[in-house]
Amino acid sequence: MTNRLNSLDDESARRSQRARTVGNLRYSKSMPDDSKPGRSHVIVRPASSVRGIVRIPGDKSVSHRYAMLAAVAEGTSRFQNFSAARDCASTLDCVATLGSAWKRLEGENEDRGAIEVRGAGPRLKAPEQVLDCGNSGSTMRMLSGILAGQSFSSELCGDESLSRRPMARIMKPLSEMGAKISSSEGGRPPLKIQGGPLKAIHYKPEVASAQVKSCVLFAGLFAEGETVVDEPLRTRDHSEIALRAFGADVERVGNASRIVGGQQLHAIDAHVAGDLSSAAFFLCAAALFPGSQITLPGILMNPTRARLLDILILMGLKVSVAHLEEHHGELVGTIEAQGAEWKGAVIAGADTAALIDEIPVLAAVAPYSEAGLEVRDAKELRVKESDRIAAVATNLRKMGAEIEERPDGMRILGGQPLHGAELDSFGDHRIAMAFAVAALRAEGETMIHGADAAGVSYPGFFEELETVAGR
Ligand code: S3P
Repeated sequence: MTNRLNSLDDESARRSQRARTVGNLRYSKSMPDDSKPGRSHVIVRPASSVRGIVRIPGDKSVSHRYAMLAAVAEGTSRFQNFSAARDCASTLDCVATLGSAWKRLEGENEDRGAIEVRGAGPRLKAPEQVLDCGNSGSTMRMLSGILAGQSFSSELCGDESLSRRPMARIMKPLSEMGAKISSSEGGRPPLKIQGGPLKAIHYKPEVASAQVKSCVLFAGLFAEGETVVDEPLRTRDHSEIALRAFGADVERVGNASRIVGGQQLHAIDAHVAGDLSSAAFFLCAAALFPGSQITLPGILMNPTRARLLDILILMGLKVSVAHLEEHHGELVGTIEAQGAEWKGAVIAGADTAALIDEIPVLAAVAPYSEAGLEVRDAKELRVKESDRIAAVATNLRKMGAEIEERPDGMRILGGQPLHGAELDSFGDHRIAMAFAVAALRAEGETMIHGADAAGVSYPGFFEELETVAGR
């Protein structure tokens, strides 16, 4: 067994970090720095099956929203299975700087990510330092909505990847609402926000983005009048559901969400369901081997996220969902999946928006399918944590596949066996994990540089993948 994750390139850091061994994986002792891609690698060996039960960590999207809304709520909120993602730690650090203290809860719940967030709202404390959003676009875009409604000025920055990402999409509506907001050239971070009294707007975003919608709805909470966000395509609705859970009235008609300003939020106790976008890696891993079987308990089954399951079923994975329950407005269930044949798919239009985070892994395993994968209308993939179209194309070519790269998508033929290769995560968590999955069926070993990026959404991912990979 040679699957391992270790610090590669910084000799002195390597000497000072005692490696520890967990199963077959070797990890550096200290948390690797994901803002410097290329500092670690993982080697993935081929597998012959995938089998087991995986407890997927709490949903990242929901965790961000719970932390931000808890910060502006009255009272202390408690969350179990709060995401351990580095992105969500960025959100927690920011809300703490804004006067909303949080802590991990000791005792039996500790392992399940139990935390408590003390509400400071609705008025937060003026920050004494720049708010560092790390790698997290969700933190920067959604928190900006809350900051726009505060009576102080604040500055938000991010790592190298986040500093390249477009922010004009939130600057425009927030300016229309009355905030003064400036950025670096081309609408890139850092952002400076002078908050103040806001007026409600009726906003029709050009891009289908849940982050933009959430930003405007969060600002709408502090605005005078009724704010409406009318989306071009339906995006994930966790903000609407979370706002209701915290006691706000939010209306949704068709693709339009409405909120009246001035509503006071109240603390909640909630359990965060497992992240379906993280589950996607294990479902695709199971899809690679007929007869594989994977069970994923307690997964978030929100219909605006669950289109993934339809596509996987269309592609040939056998999927069933049991124990469906509702937690604070969100659907939760246990997914059981079995690998069978692996056909092909075309993802376009509304499906592209609904599957935007899962396209990298679907693309990475597409060469093993019968008919391949075509992805259209996916220009947004170019401005994620990396240019995900270019990253997928580069890595697949290194593994021996032919791929047609398009400005807003890609076409990958099926029936292409892959071989192991030396790949890069491009500092992008989903690229690191997608290619670890693809590597399971490749011939020979695959080395993924910058593998510690996975911790941005899923710390412990490679260990977990190793536990289900049969050899
Ligand atoms: C997210 C929305 C999506 C997604 C991101 C999380 C969210 O981004 O890609 O990982 O939690 O609202 P966009 O809103 O930019 O599409």
